[in-house]
Amino acid sequence: MLSILVNMKVLVTGGAGCIGSDLAEALLLRNFEVTVLDNLSSGKIQHVEKLLGHSRFHFVQGDLLDLDLVSRTMAGVEMVYHLAANPDVKFTPGDATDKDLQQNILATYHVLEAMRLHAVKRLAFASTSAVYGISEVQPIPENAICRPISLYGATKLGCEALVSAFSSLFEIQSWIFRFANIVGAKVRKRGRTVISDFIQRLRDDPSRLTILGNGRQAKSYLLAEECIAGMFYAIEHAGERLNIVNLGCADSLRVTRIADMVAAAMGLSGVDYTYTGGEGGWPGDVPRFMLDVSAMSLLGWQARCNSERAVEIAIQAILRTAEASQIEVGGAACKP
Ligand SMILES: NC(=O)c1ccc[n+]([C@@H]2O[C@H](COP(=O)([O-])OP(=O)(O)OC[C@H]3O[C@@H](n4cnc5c(N)ncnc54)[C@H](O)[C@@H]3O)[C@@H](O)[C@H]2O)c1
Repeated sequence: MLSILVNMKVLVTGGAGCIGSDLAEALLLRNFEVTVLDNLSSGKIQHVEKLLGHSRFHFVQGDLLDLDLVSRTMAGVEMVYHLAANPDVKFTPGDATDKDLQQNILATYHVLEAMRLHAVKRLAFASTSAVYGISEVQPIPENAICRPISLYGATKLGCEALVSAFSSLFEIQSWIFRFANIVGAKVRKRGRTVISDFIQRLRDDPSRLTILGNGRQAKSYLLAEECIAGMFYAIEHAGERLNIVNLGCADSLRVTRIADMVAAAMGLSGVDYTYTGGEGGWPGDVPRFMLDVSAMSLLGWQARCNSERAVEIAIQAILRTAEASQIEVGGAACKP
């Protein structure tokens, strides 16, 4: 049980990211000794700033593509939370097609290989609903056929396969989490999410908003804090060698509704929406999905907030943070 594994040394890859930094903080609160390994490519040092002075917190700035570094960092670690990845699902024509291969598959291989070398026996891996692609079955159960339509989804599925093989060959107990869209107060340095993208665009021009796709894309959203609570719960209660679970809530929310919510939260009315058209927002976007979360429910856990409430809380939190620091919220925009 997580609660009795106090003082265990854990490694959080991608721990300066939006979810990873909240996870690192939650682990410290549970008395773990936490090392974060992050290259700050999309994460920010500000996300972990308040943890830096903590006696049980260690920050290593470095790249998972450096196997020697990953291996050195792994010494003494008892469990890994592997969240580092290229988090941006979008592929823009002209982008390198091996970016996700490197940042997801090769990086994950290095984590697993370093775990093997140091006999680390527990792993939580941040996968994604994007592994399913466009599923005929909705809501999508974990045993649905995976036919990813993005390089991001394809390589995350490849990572899952590597985790499965290492888990079986080297007795690593693993939890693979297929996240819904995770939202919260933090925003990335690059790779805007829908909420931060809308906020930034409306700050730039409060009279109009460009919405990618036809606005009818509908996806599931989960608060970062609930995502972390769900991970902890599954690690405590799912005891197979390899555990694969959807982590989200049971409904979905349309993109145009999110635009309405952002505009209202910013005190704007009569915003002129322009849709770029098409079912998906960009090549590789899965326009509609709902996750079947009954496996988590059977374990005894379900999200408290539905998608609309999660998005509402995240909008307020991002606006509060942005107002307090006068920062840009979006990082690099996704191209329409
Ligand atoms: N946010 C979501 O909606 C969502 C949905 C599904 C899955 N996920 C997965 O959850 C994880 C965390 O996502 P997030 O939203 O917090 O993204 P994020 O960009 O905020 O966090 C990813 C972190 O990994 C770091 N990183 C990337 N490549 C690295 C490398 N080669 N070496 C070291 N560090 C590296 C980045 O600097 C960043 O801090 C990712 O694996 C992502 O694919 C996120």
